[in-house]
Amino acid sequence: MQKILVTGGAGFIGSNFVHHLVRSTDYTVTVVDKLTYAASRESLAGLPEDRVQLVVGDIADASLMDDLVSKTDAVVHYAAESHNDNSLNDPSPFIQTNIIGTYTILEAVRKHEKRLHHVSTDEVYGDLELDDPERFTENTPYNPSSPYSSSKAASDLLVRAWARSFGVQVTLSNCSNNYGPWQHIEKFIPRQITNLIDGVKPKLYGAGLNVRDWIHADDHSSAVQTILENGRIGETYLIGADGEKNNLETVQLILRLMGHDENDFEHVTDRAGHDMRYAIDSTKLREELGWKPEFQDFEAGMANTVQWYQEHQDWWRPKKAEIEAAYAAQGQ
Ligand code: NAD
Ligand code: DAU
Repeated sequence: MQKILVTGGAGFIGSNFVHHLVRSTDYTVTVVDKLTYAASRESLAGLPEDRVQLVVGDIADASLMDDLVSKTDAVVHYAAESHNDNSLNDPSPFIQTNIIGTYTILEAVRKHEKRLHHVSTDEVYGDLELDDPERFTENTPYNPSSPYSSSKAASDLLVRAWARSFGVQVTLSNCSNNYGPWQHIEKFIPRQITNLIDGVKPKLYGAGLNVRDWIHADDHSSAVQTILENGRIGETYLIGADGEKNNLETVQLILRLMGHDENDFEHVTDRAGHDMRYAIDSTKLREELGWKPEFQDFEAGMANTVQWYQEHQDWWRPKKAEIEAAYAAQGQ
């Protein structure tokens, strides 16, 4: 395996993975990315031109994908519409990219007999009660709640069907909530950090008791590389770093790290159908493939993330007013 095609490689997690591959392997990487509002060319800046190439295009473009897949050894598929709140306002791009786009990639890897790793989310399993002693495992039944998570669930099921019916060489991973540099400011953590930089109070949906299982994006990348290189074909691996925190705790940590009173936030209108809790049991990945996360200290990881947004205002500031206006229109 020398040539890797990374879909969605100009997004938050895909670009992290491209940097990770360049640091830790001698692979050459082609990124295919439509450069939607969520992408950023800057996230790929400085990478060696003889190792990384960006092709601007749509994963639902069958002839483009046929051509790119024919020239690669393996595909790592990150491209997606990724934000739950957007999927509640307009599901249509989620159906088009997450379902039709994945189908298009599957047909190309089937035709050219190429290896595929499909990147997905723990949200396909629905949510857990706060006091449920169980966490998600590879055997948890699918039960997605939102247009986003149901479109990702649909894409996972297509991948599994192409593996079983056509013998396509796939692995799948379902990861919990990522944080770190280059995350779009529509998402929870960067939204609150950039609000505070702007002198605006953090906004908590509902009571703030919903739990997310945080993992640093660097750890997601090392896990995907491990599965790509050593995972068993046809298998699913859950990726998580034992990072459960409720949203109130996370906002209070950000407030403290940025020198504010930890009660200086406001409650806003809750998300429709808001999942209560996600929690990952990553035993299979750890025991079978020997993976473990590097970022075990959430407070230290968050301090680095706060500093990154403080130092990269040129990157996020042009997007901030529009994002906040859209949230404000919904009482959020
Ligand atoms: P993101 O929104 O930051 O990036 C998505 C990228 O995909 C963007 O660069 C965008 O331009 C590109 N893209 C969108 N539609 C496309 C299309 N039709 N053709 C080509 N490119 C297209 O998303 P992210 O947070 O980096 O998530 C990446 C993947 O990881 C997604 O599949 C998501 O479901 C999965 N995931 C995300 C998280 C998380 O916490 N963010 C956790 C688990 C899994
Ligand atoms: O679990 C993995 C998923 O994590 C990924 O599949 C998604 O692509 C990714 O966006 C993320 O989904 P969430 O919906 O959990 O992330 P988000 O950052 O939108 O919200 C995190 C939590 O914070 C959630 O409970 C909603 C809440 N929230 C969000 C925003 C934007 C707030 O309380 N206030 C906010 O302003």
